[in-house]
Amino acid sequence: MELDKFKHFSVFGNPIEHTLSPKIHSLFSKQTNIPCSYTAVKVPLNEFSNRINSFFNTIGDGANVTLPFKEEAYCFSDILTNRAKLTKSVNTLKKVKDEKILGDNTDGIGFLYDLNRLGFLKKNNKILLIGAGGAARGLLPSILSKNNEVFIYNRTYERAKKLAEEFRYLGKIQEVGYKDLSAIKAGLIIHATSYFFSKEKLILPSSLIHQNVSCYDLSYVKNSQTTPFLNWCKKLGAMNLANGIGMLISQAAYSFLLWNNILPDIEKIFAEL
Ligand code: ATR
Repeated sequence: MELDKFKHFSVFGNPIEHTLSPKIHSLFSKQTNIPCSYTAVKVPLNEFSNRINSFFNTIGDGANVTLPFKEEAYCFSDILTNRAKLTKSVNTLKKVKDEKILGDNTDGIGFLYDLNRLGFLKKNNKILLIGAGGAARGLLPSILSKNNEVFIYNRTYERAKKLAEEFRYLGKIQEVGYKDLSAIKAGLIIHATSYFFSKEKLILPSSLIHQNVSCYDLSYVKNSQTTPFLNWCKKLGAMNLANGIGMLISQAAYSFLLWNNILPDIEKIFAEL
């Protein structure tokens, strides 16, 4: 009987120091009895394709790609899944037949899994998406696939407008300016900016928050349930709050599925983390 080859995976990003992905993947490996390694690699900003090339030319079987390289990974891929084509960004690479590299994006499916788990996904929901960068782009095809009405707000209005125009063919999406925000009563607010990492403050009207709104922050703080955005929502009375850990675990599980043909039990990992 042929033994399964020991596989090597890595996550490539910059910054990468605080990533939880190696921990999550080691729990998947234990849970599924699939022995594999998973390391984190900090890549200098102009070195992505060199580093990823040498990884796949030596030991690499699969890779995760995080900020700021997801669009470069999209261009790097020889073959793309539909999900990657829709978002034009790639967070998972896999070496396939003939040494070709397949690019996939598991962010959207991971995000939907987590919204379902939390009970945040209502039918015909109004969703306010804050941010129009790479993180927002990665989610849009998934949230538009569920018949939601999406409003997209961004500090730089033009970027929101551009993204709304690009994805309008997939569903109801409308860019909004700051003044429009006071008229929006969303059932779900998704925070997808990187303001967390900058020193400036994110300014939003308090009228966005009501008792029934669900608030999801794609970012997270290690060893903490909350984030500055979620603190703001909570102070104003929001009760349904979630940080990005759930999505992180879920997208990782779908990457694991692509690499190893088995979906780990995501709920068990929540308990273990
Ligand atoms: P990512 O891939 O993390 O989304 P990005 O593509 O650089 O990173 O996008 C960052 C997002 O955070 C953008 O929506 C950005 O707004 P601008 O388009 O106006 O730059 C948003 N952002 C970053 N700092 C912010 C701040 N202090 N206040 C509001 N939005 C901010």
